[in-house]
Amino acid sequence: MAIYRIATVPDPALTTPARSVPGVGPGVLRVLDNLAETLRSARGIGLAAPQVRILKRLAVVDTDDGLGTWDLINPELLEGRDERIGWDACLSIPGISGETLRCEWIRIRTLTRTGESVEMIATGLRARCILHEMDHLDGILFTDKAVRLFKDKPKESESDGEGPLIEKQP
Ligand code: NI
Repeated sequence: MAIYRIATVPDPALTTPARSVPGVGPGVLRVLDNLAETLRSARGIGLAAPQVRILKRLAVVDTDDGLGTWDLINPELLEGRDERIGWDACLSIPGISGETLRCEWIRIRTLTRTGESVEMIATGLRARCILHEMDHLDGILFTDKAVRLFKDKPKESESDGEGPLIEKQP
């Protein structure tokens, strides 16, 4: 396996819609394995292929909830409920976090590593994370839809709470 270099804004790969993969072969599995390795190394919870400049509809999520790493291959949202404002951040946008409105109950369709089409249900942070990664496949970043954005606190800061609020341009 290999660790990819993660693209950061304003890399154009991050705002370019990705293409569906025609099926699941060794090339797709290799990208998924490398995405998972890169995600672990970056200590993130989700990573989409466009974030490593591969414009294919592939992503991995692992929200540390005991459900393990999920591979998303040509994922589609079938149903979303329980829309809430919640925390959001992105490995491609270092130093900024925010709040977005996202569904915390979703039903999706994806291909599996053996090429079967399956439906999955996800809730809570895993649902938010899957929707964040699916946005990446359409070239959409959380900062495009955030209701509030915050500058992350410097690591040495001892104060509690969020860093300063960033004014969003209308
Ligand atoms: Ni992201």
